[in-house]
Amino acid sequence: MWALYLAPAALRPSAVTFVTLACSSTLDIIGVVASAIVARGLRRIFPPDLAAVDGIDLDIEEGRIFGFLGANGSGKTTTIRMLTTLLRPTEGSATVDGYDVVKDAAKVRARVGVALQEASLDLVMTGRETLLLQARLYRVPRGEVRQRVGDLLRIVDLEEAADRRVGTYSGGMQRRLDLAAALVHRPRIVFLDEPTSGLDPISRNTIWRYVEDLNRNDGVTFFLTTQYLEEADRLAHEVAIMERGRIVAQGAPAELKASIGADVVTVRLEDRNAQPDRALAAVKAIGGLTDVRVVGDSVVVYTKDGSSAIAPIVLALNEATVAVEEVTLARPTLDDVFLRKTGHHIEAQDREPEGVEGAAS
Ligand SMILES: Nc1ncnc2c1ncn2[C@@H]1O[C@H](COP(=O)(O)OP(=O)(O)O)[C@@H](O)[C@H]1O
Ligand SMILES: [Mg+2]
Repeated sequence: MWALYLAPAALRPSAVTFVTLACSSTLDIIGVVASAIVARGLRRIFPPDLAAVDGIDLDIEEGRIFGFLGANGSGKTTTIRMLTTLLRPTEGSATVDGYDVVKDAAKVRARVGVALQEASLDLVMTGRETLLLQARLYRVPRGEVRQRVGDLLRIVDLEEAADRRVGTYSGGMQRRLDLAAALVHRPRIVFLDEPTSGLDPISRNTIWRYVEDLNRNDGVTFFLTTQYLEEADRLAHEVAIMERGRIVAQGAPAELKASIGADVVTVRLEDRNAQPDRALAAVKAIGGLTDVRVVGDSVVVYTKDGSSAIAPIVLALNEATVAVEEVTLARPTLDDVFLRKTGHHIEAQDREPEGVEGAAS
């Protein structure tokens, strides 16, 4: 893999500057790849003994979009809070842009942008005032503030609402304002905690498109958590799947999908089948399948050639007198990877209905 490290990297302690193309695999050997985020054995225990994050390792290169996936309670927010200095690790270490999140917390804070899951906005201020204040807090040069705030308001589609109080904004508008606030000081590394959860598809697309643009055009590194696996699949260069505080899979989405076999056959059983175990045993007995498991009312089969597996599966179930409702054949998605690694589908429990923006609460 080839990587180009340009001048701004020279300002950071961990980064090594190359003015020509450098082969990163050679650099790996001599240990000088520029990492945006590194974690080693990062752990956080909440009293008395809940390991919310249970020893994770991360190596995220500059300029990547990293998707951090996991069900509710798997430790995503706790990880973000440690990486952005809002919460002290119980054990292990992490650096962001080369700075230690405990020893150099102020330097880390100055370099990152963060939009947490719960936007902490002042409801009596207007959108514009919110961004102006944020710009002042982060010491954005005076001459640049108006322009930058104006640009951001336009990008997150809040120009018309800019001079209204935040309390009158819908949930989606508040999320977009919070995102803009995280970007006002042009951070090189941005943490977004479920930036699109509960948003209508249009707001979600606006946010994702902007993330993509900033990444591609300005090389901004993104660390984002999501429960929407299809979005992570589309945008993230690399993803990690969290399950109860641990990373159970990590890699490029295409790699992860390829790792679970070529096809997924899902056999939905009729309600009256009281024993999915019988169905499972019958399908397993066929042999030659990569993996077979029961998920809810379905038997899910991973196999190299799904179309030629369907007939034997249906026959085997028929012989075992298991009634079949529906059989579908699909290419694996990140959801299948998730299922394979965790044993369950990701549940976006705190999703709001799509199609309408949540009204301001
Ligand atoms: N401040 C806290 N005190 C005690 N437990 C917490 C605290 N914050 C989070 N937890 C627990 O840690 C686990 C991980 O939570 P969190 O990091 O918020 O997960 P996620 O963001 O993936 O939904 C959950 O079991 C949650 O209840
Ligand atoms: Mg969370």
